[in-house]
This record gives sequence, C-alpha cells and structure tokens, in this order.
Amino acid sequence: MNTNQTNRDCFSCKFGVFAAAVGSAVGLGNIWRFPYLAGENGGGAFLIIYIAFVFILGLPVMLSEFVIGRRGQGNVFRSFKQLAPKKPWYLVGLMGITASLIILAFYSTIAGWAFEYAMISVKNIFSPSAGVVDHAQVFEQFHTATVVPLVWMTVFILITAFVVLFGVQKGIEKYAKILLPLLFVFLVIFSIRGLTLPGSVEGLKFLFYPDFSKINGGVMLSALGQAAFSLSIGMGTMITFGSYIKKDDNLPRSAFSISIADTFVAALAGMAIFPAVFAFGMEPTQGPGLVYVVLPAIFEQMTGGAYFAFGFFVVLIIAALTSSVSLLEVPVAYFREEFRMTRRTATLLGTAISGALAIFTTLSFGPLKHVKLFEKTIFDNSDFFASNILLPLGAFFVVLFLGWFYDIKQTKDEITNQGTLTVRLFPVFVFIIRFVAPLAILLVFLKGVGLI
Ligand code: PHE
Repeated sequence: MNTNQTNRDCFSCKFGVFAAAVGSAVGLGNIWRFPYLAGENGGGAFLIIYIAFVFILGLPVMLSEFVIGRRGQGNVFRSFKQLAPKKPWYLVGLMGITASLIILAFYSTIAGWAFEYAMISVKNIFSPSAGVVDHAQVFEQFHTATVVPLVWMTVFILITAFVVLFGVQKGIEKYAKILLPLLFVFLVIFSIRGLTLPGSVEGLKFLFYPDFSKINGGVMLSALGQAAFSLSIGMGTMITFGSYIKKDDNLPRSAFSISIADTFVAALAGMAIFPAVFAFGMEPTQGPGLVYVVLPAIFEQMTGGAYFAFGFFVVLIIAALTSSVSLLEVPVAYFREEFRMTRRTATLLGTAISGALAIFTTLSFGPLKHVKLFEKTIFDNSDFFASNILLPLGAFFVVLFLGWFYDIKQTKDEITNQGTLTVRLFPVFVFIIRFVAPLAILLVFLKGVGLI
C-alpha cells in the first residue's frame, strides 16, 4: 500500500483535489436535506439565513480548515497536533472523526433509498403511461420495510468502502469530474418542468419570499447545521483534503468556488422541488421523504419520465458516493496514521463502525420507529447530534484555534502561499475568524439548543 506521502503526492494534480472537494460538498445535503429542511422551516427565510451562514461563516471555516490541513499535513487529529503540540486541540479532531462516522451511517440510509428508486424507475412506474400511482404510498411502503432498505444501505456503504480502499485520488477524481455537471442538467430540466405546472408560482413564493416570523432559535440552528453539513465542514473532511492540496494552489479561491457551486446546487434543488410541491398540493413540511415523494410526481408528468428518473437517481447515487467517500476518508486517514493500520484494515474498521450504526438509523423508519429519545427517532437523533451539535462545535473550535491560538502570521503565510498571492480580504477574514464567526456560532448554538 502507498505511504501517506506518496498518496499526498498523487494529489498533486490540481483539479483532482478541487473536484474531490466539490464532490464532497455536493451530495444528498443539497438535493435531499436542503429541500426538506427549507420545507419544514418556512422556506424563504430559511434560504436567506442559510445562504448568509454559508458565506459569512461557512466559507471562512472552510478556508481555515484548508489552512490547518495544508499546514499540518496530516489527518484531522494529526494536523491539530502538528500545529499545537502538547495542547488538547486534537480533541477537536476526535470530535470530527466521531461526527464523520455518525454522518456516514445515516447518509447510507438515505443513499440506499436512491438505489431502490433507481431500480423501480426501471419498472416504468414514473411515467405518464403508468397511470395514477400514489407516490406517497410507494415511498411509505418501501422505506418502513425491514429487509430492502437494509440491503440498499449495505450496498451503498460497501461501495463507499471499495472506493476508499483504492486510495483517495483514483477513487474520487474519476467520478466527480463527469457526473456533477450532469446532476446540474437534470435539476434544470426538472425545475423547468415543475415551473410549467399550473399553480407552481406558490412554490416560488414559498422558496424566495421570506417570512421572518417563522424564524426562531431552532430554525437558526438548523440553518447553521445545514450550512456546515452541505459544505462538509466542522468535522475534518476539508482538513484532510487540505493536507492533499498543493502548496501553490489558491486556497481562498478554491473555498469560494466550492461554496458557490454548493449553494447553487441547493437552490436549484429547491427550484426543482417547491414549485411542484405546490402545484401538486403536497405538504412542504413532510420531512425526510420530501424529494422521494415529489420528484416521482414530476417524472410522471414528463415524456420519458422513467428514463429521467433512472438517470437522475443513478447520478444522485454517484454524487452521494463522492460525499460518503470523503466522510469515510476522515477516520481511515486517522486509523492509518495514528495506529499504523493498513488502508485495508482502517477501511474495514471505519465501515464496520458506521455500518453497525446504519442498521439502526435505517430501521428507525420502520421496525424501530417507536424507539425514541427526546421525542426523536434514532435517525433524527443521529442527524441532530452530528449536524446540529458536533459540526457547529467543530466549526467553532476551528475558527477559535486559528483566530486566537495559532500564529496569525503563519496563517497569512499559508493563505497567501508565502506571500506570492495577494489576498486583499485577509483582514476581513481575520476579523471574521476572531470575532464574527466564534460569537455568531456560539450564540446560534446556545439559542438553538435552548441554553440561552
Ligand atoms: N456535504 C455533503 C452533502 O452535502 C455531506 C458531507 C458532510 C460530506 C460532511 C462530508 C462531510 O451531501
């Protein structure tokens, strides 16, 4: 197997890391999670707060993670140790590793649903010729079952493990380059179809017209969690990727492009979903099943709907895979570098931990539906704990570390590539990571969990 260093060298291809980072950011977070959260949390106001969080907080956090990773040249745990020897900052790394194992678990549950939908598209039930099909019922029946969702979850996590086994660069690069543009094309087509349905304007209003009376602490925390989740920050993916980025690569520009691309895909997914939700008289607040119920209803209105459905779900699976691979890479890099495991053993261990948890997150829609803690199912608890607690805390400590504990000159050095790049906004960045981001994240977090 490759040593770490040779792996990092393989990543010298500039486009490789960038494509991999975009691939990590764009995934189910944009297509599945964003629309259902926006639907539950009031639409337009949520969208605006989410976008504000992405650019004011998320982007600086991503840049900070790149700095920590490229400076530290290691997995999330080691990078912190390298930059702050003998200080407990590596605990932030351990928190990130925990978050990635949990996210990978419930991510696999949802990605598994896409497999089922790709399969049933072949049966042609998503097309005008199929006659009237109750898509809500199709979804209900499938996702509350025991065996089939478990099988697809397992298939997904095993494919993830397979890709990680063959090393980061070879695994991720190939897929990300070709398939993300295709996802984009599909979403544009579905938006157009949705927008041409009678009654769809209400959906546009819902998505873009902000009703701020719907905002409270919980909604703010969801928007923050979603910004972190969607950008893959707060848990070490971007630190791990940062360690692979070439020394003369432009970090601020990369962070900016990734944030723009990611937000664009989420907004586009919203455009594909909400006009149709309203045109079909569906409920925007129906939760995690939203896209799986709405999209089939759109396919049904399209000539060749079954083909679109199949193509879309296949591309969605690949987009999910480029994200799940980056999730698994976090614990794998840690196990390898800290415990001297081979890539194979490390991958097996990470997959086993997440896979075990994924059995529970998957069954929590069906047989384990009634197992609840704080009135939430196992799935909801895993998602809430990882996305709304661990990721915001991780992001908080990342900016706190760079803003207050690490030598700001070294940060400047890293961001400007030893002074060869002019980064005019550097003072703004410093102001954000010192004051704005730590305070805002802390406030939203404390308010969201009801501590203030
Ligand atoms: N950002 C990914 C998505 O939107 C999910 C993810 C979260 C990936 C955290 C890596 C780390 O689907």
